[in-house]
Amino acid sequence: MNAINLGIIGLGRGFMLTLPALNAHPGVRLAAAFDLRADALERFAQDYGGTTHGTIESLLADPSIQAVYIATPHELHAEQTIAALRAGKHVLVEKPMATSVADCGAMASAAAAAGRVLMVGPSHGFDEPVRQAAALVASGRYGPVRLVTAFNFTDFLYRLRRPEELDSGRGGGVVYSQAAHQIDVVRRIIGRPVASIRAVTGNWDADRPTEGAYAAFMTFQGGAAATLTYSGYGHYDSDALLGWVSELGQVKDPARYGDARRALAALTVADETDAKLARTYGAPGGALPPSAPHHEHFGFVLVSCERADIKLLPTGLEIYADDVRDLVPIAPPKLARAAVIDDFAEAILSGINPVHDGQWGLDTVACCAALIESSRRATELDPRSMIADFAQGKGMRP
Ligand SMILES: NC(=O)c1ccc[n+]([C@@H]2O[C@H](COP(=O)([O-])OP(=O)(O)OC[C@H]3O[C@@H](n4cnc5c(N)ncnc54)[C@H](O)[C@@H]3O)[C@@H](O)[C@H]2O)c1
Repeated sequence: MNAINLGIIGLGRGFMLTLPALNAHPGVRLAAAFDLRADALERFAQDYGGTTHGTIESLLADPSIQAVYIATPHELHAEQTIAALRAGKHVLVEKPMATSVADCGAMASAAAAAGRVLMVGPSHGFDEPVRQAAALVASGRYGPVRLVTAFNFTDFLYRLRRPEELDSGRGGGVVYSQAAHQIDVVRRIIGRPVASIRAVTGNWDADRPTEGAYAAFMTFQGGAAATLTYSGYGHYDSDALLGWVSELGQVKDPARYGDARRALAALTVADETDAKLARTYGAPGGALPPSAPHHEHFGFVLVSCERADIKLLPTGLEIYADDVRDLVPIAPPKLARAAVIDDFAEAILSGINPVHDGQWGLDTVACCAALIESSRRATELDPRSMIADFAQGKGMRP
């Protein structure tokens, strides 16, 4: 089997988190890159050879590139994905797929018209404990799933950010960046279409004026429900409930409480963007993430079936059944995010759509849009109605 020649569009933090899985996959060859940063392109040429490009058009014009991985800022995903699909490339696009239902609809349509794979990821719906919990629910072993309780308390808002990551009008804030993960996890586990969302978002820090928290109640076809809570305000840390394992599967030191806020306090807004780039690919401080001893996770997730509660851990599934409590261990990850590249390569080779295809990404973004709009209008919304409104060319632009 010849390896798939992959072009990278955007050599930043998202790319670095996926890089170990890309490096290790025998079916993928890093063959080209496009970024605005010359230092990143130089490093790519040193590490992989291949071609480097100063425009997306030049990368997409190369007929030897079969697929691209788009890891640029959210607001570029739609335009770059559609251009790549029209050029005949398969596309793996970072989450969120885009920041409007209209853009996601256009991306999914472009994939169908081009007959190419469009996959959205990585996201925490790919995590092995999530996949195993979803399989257990689908098996019906503990009866129908009735409720999922998901919450995550992090310091998201105080990590180094680009200005647009803190600008709600450009898809900034925790909904598109973080609810996209949590909704993905819950949808994978329940395995049914979302019927409604009622949510309240929080915007509590005038120095970081965007959505930093939310609480949402979701119902699903078939009757299951889920509660999703998120706070990125850097106070309580729900990794305390996950054995002090971080989102990326690393062992965490609880004594480092408040580190993100303290580091940020020393920086101006301009310094912050530079500081983020100084730690990314091509920069002197841009080291690859160390391999993780545990699976990645997205906070506390408890799945209630009729005859058991199933708690997801970075090391396994803890099952609280009628008579016994059991820990089903999951072997440690060989490599973080490998499942994403496996799924993408398999979809290209088999021609069968992956779970996280364009329609899946569109449905998740519709949930994000509904979450924000539900809070604004103080009402319950059906995310499918937002998609339908756009298909008919009416309504606001969520
Ligand atoms: N799945 C995950 O866990 C995860 C983690 C981090 C980031 N991400 C996603 O990756 C995307 C990028 O975020 P990031 O944190 O890597 O940002 P970043 O700022 O670290 O990287 C963005 C990269 O894109 C480049 N870039 C900017 N404008 C460009 C353009 N017009 N054309 C080509 N390249 C351009 C920048 O030079 C930089 O190298 C976001 O959508 C984010 O949600 C996902």
